[in-house]
Parts: sequence; C-alpha cells; structure tokens
Amino acid sequence: MWKVYLADCFEWMKKCEPNEFIAIVTDPPYSLEEFKRENLEKMKRGSGGVWRIPPKIGGVERNPLPRFTVFSAEHHKIMFNFFHNWAKLAYRVLVPGGHLVIASTPIFLPTVAHAIIEGGFEPRGVIVRLVQTLRGGFRPKNAEEEFKELSTIPRAHWEPWAIFRKPIEKGSTVAENLKKWKSGALKREPDGRPFPDVIPSERTPKEEEAIAPHPTLKPQSFMRRIIRAVVPLNEGKVLDPFCGAGSTIAAIEALGFDGIGIEVNPEYYEMALKAIPQLARVNVDPWLFERRINKGSKMLVLTEFLLKEGC
Ligand SMILES: C[S@@+](CC[C@H](N)C(=O)[O-])C[C@H]1O[C@@H](n2cnc3c(N)ncnc32)[C@H](O)[C@@H]1O
Repeated sequence: MWKVYLADCFEWMKKCEPNEFIAIVTDPPYSLEEFKRENLEKMKRGSGGVWRIPPKIGGVERNPLPRFTVFSAEHHKIMFNFFHNWAKLAYRVLVPGGHLVIASTPIFLPTVAHAIIEGGFEPRGVIVRLVQTLRGGFRPKNAEEEFKELSTIPRAHWEPWAIFRKPIEKGSTVAENLKKWKSGALKREPDGRPFPDVIPSERTPKEEEAIAPHPTLKPQSFMRRIIRAVVPLNEGKVLDPFCGAGSTIAAIEALGFDGIGIEVNPEYYEMALKAIPQLARVNVDPWLFERRINKGSKMLVLTEFLLKEGC
C-alpha cells in the first residue's frame, strides 16, 4: 500500500507519530534553489538559472541538470542548517535501528553527512552508484575555447547515496532490536552475499522518463535494490519525504511493501499519483549491470592471462 501527500515534508514530519517508519529513502533537493518556482520556469524555458542543458552527445538530447559547481562557505552553512533540522525530524519518525539512505553529490556529501550525524544518526557507509553522469567536467565558463584542455571540476562517474542508522534501542543487541522493531540490519542479496556498497547502475531509462518526466527521476533498477535492503524482515513502512515523481514509492510498491511519499510541488505530486502504479509495473533486473561488469572483468582477467601466456 502506498500514499503520497502534497505537503512540505518538514511540516508533515512534525505532525507524524514517532517511530512510524522502518526506513527513509530519499533524493532531496540540493542548493535549495533548483526546485524554486522561478528556477523551474527558467529550466522549462531552457535559459538561465541553476539548470543547464548538457550538450547533445551523438545527437541525443539530454535532460536539464542543476549546475552546482560554486559553493560558498555561506551556502554550506545554509545547507548544513537545512539538513540538520530535517535530520532531527527524520530521527523522530524512524524506529530505533531504522535506516536512512539519502542521495547526494560528491561535493555536497561532507556537509550533508555532518548535518545528519549531528542530528543523532550513526554513519553506516556510502553506496557508490556507478553511473555515467553529466555532472562536472566543465571548461572554464565563457573561456571554453581559450582553456579547452582544462575542466574546473572532475566529471562525476558516480553518485553517493549515504547510509545512516538511527541507533538501536539503548541496552539492546541488534538481534533484540530486530525482534522488537524489525530493524537494525540490511537485507543480504538474494544469493546470500552481504548488501554491497558499490552498485553498477544506469541513467534513468527513456521508458521510465516518459512515464514520469521529472528532471531528476531515479531508475527503478537502482531504487528497488535499495528498498529491498532497508526492509530487512519484510515488515514496516518506508518514507520518501522528497518524493518527486515517486520513483522510491514505485519501487516500494513493486516489492510489495508499504510506503509514503511527500511532495511539495503540486505538478510533481499529480505526476507521482499517475506515475507510481506505472513505474511499479516496469519490468527491471536490478542485478543486470553488476552481472555485465562481472562478466567484463572475467574477460579482462582472461585477456591478461592470455597476453601473459603469449597467446
Ligand atoms: C531531487 S527531487 C526527487 C526526485 C525523485 N527521486 C524522483 O525520482 O522523482 C526532490 C523533490 O523534492 C521536492 N521538495 C523540495 N522541497 C520539499 C519539501 N520541503 N517537502 C517536500 N518536497 C520537497 C521537489 O519539488 C522535488 O520534486
């Protein structure tokens, strides 16, 4: 069962019962600028503001991305306060031992993680979502020709999804916490391996973007893998307080769990209501990219071996 509310998640979480959710999985706004109405208007017009249209690659049109490369000490403070206040609310609504998994960027991660830890959470690692992003790698602005051999920031080939846990109940063992709250650990992979912190992924497929044309929609293949891990005993509700067009909630629905999404923008809220059932029905294999890479690395080992053997 799922539900999405049109609300500001800060206000919503304040009114929520404590210990309501087994996990929070979310992809929040960054810089707190990109989802402001005036910047969304500029994105739609394709001119100005914090959104940029990446260049066509091989003639393929790209979706707009937020352009955040300059980040002052003042921005860090604003972001810290935002996530610190938010983390205190998130802490309240999670059960002891509940996990918080939050998308970030290599630049913002230290500030966001610091704010969340100060909000009471334990850091539990970072999932490296391997994905060929179009973030970074820019030549100096307005001097692209003059300095064409330089880029001001590395091109990101990964996206961090930081993992935190609300501490397990005082005086309890993890096993006791699991029995009482159904939380405290991450589910292993279907083949028994521990949940890994590097996940080969993909850009959101066109089919999913057509269902939910949100500028930062996340792929079902990745979201389902995360959701599977954070509901360790298949019981409990998951919250996405910045749910956008609902990719997290669709993953929850696809796996048969319960979820609640909060979205402040009426356009995205309406989009989520329509998109969630359709995204939940999309047929994906969350382990496909991992298998491809493993196959690739076996090939590499074999090639190296053959070269060494002079074949
Ligand atoms: C990065 S997007 C999430 C996209 C989502 N992962 C998806 O796949 O569609 C962040 C979303 O948070 C929403 N948002 C921003 N501030 C909010 C707030 N205070 N409460 C609830 N939603 C908010 C924005 O409108 C935006 O849709």
